[in-house]
Amino acid sequence: MENPVIIALDFENAKKTKAFLASFEGRSPYVKVGMELFYAEGASFVSWLKERNFRVFLDLKLHDIPTTVHKAMKVLGGLNIDMVNVHAAGGFAMMKAAKDGLIAAGAHQTKLIAVTQLTSTTEKVLKEELLIKDHNLNDCVSHYAKLAKHAGLDGVVCSVQEASSIKNVCGEDFLTVTPGIRLSGSETHDQARIATPAEAAMKKSDYMVVGRSITGAEEPVSIYNEIFNEWRESYENNRFQTLA
Ligand code: C5P
Repeated sequence: MENPVIIALDFENAKKTKAFLASFEGRSPYVKVGMELFYAEGASFVSWLKERNFRVFLDLKLHDIPTTVHKAMKVLGGLNIDMVNVHAAGGFAMMKAAKDGLIAAGAHQTKLIAVTQLTSTTEKVLKEELLIKDHNLNDCVSHYAKLAKHAGLDGVVCSVQEASSIKNVCGEDFLTVTPGIRLSGSETHDQARIATPAEAAMKKSDYMVVGRSITGAEEPVSIYNEIFNEWRESYENNRFQTLA
């Protein structure tokens, strides 16, 4: 069974990241490289990870005109990464251009997913700042997910709360990648909508993105294992109930 935990490497440089990864002693978990680390260290650090068999989700959330995104994806597609993303708010043509850019680079193995609405966006922000007044957050997320699917994308980043309704509208194979994961009773930090690994499995999240709970832990590997074990137990119980 594939381990669905993606560790968010939210570190300021390669030195700190390598020190953290050393605790995994030869294991190569799925990791997420975000803007901070990528802008600090560039593509060479992604290559360093790939040479050591880490699976890499490059979380750069591209959002620009279609031609620019196409060209940028053509470059990123050359990095042999496992997953990369764009903002669905860039629209259908931009998302399709992103997919075409990856294909032009021969990166057929790279999953392309879309950020629907950021988990930091509230109903109030949606209505008062973005002026999306006629739709609630859930409808907006579902609509963006459908648009992403029609543009040929492989899935979306969403909260656990949205994952099963997205599967309902976009199909079981459409990936749901969910941040905001916390073991029960642990620190929530600035995440507004959180869920436990057990809930993530129940609501059909394919991948859980976990940052501070693991990176800030005294024993990161044991928290990583705990998250996976809780997810696996819930996944297997759920599967059993579905089959029964
Ligand atoms: O530390 P924590 O587990 O909250 O980290 C979550 C990670 O997921 C961070 O890297 C954050 O940038 C990312 N993320 C998120 N919400 C989104 C998209 C990405 O928290 N909607």
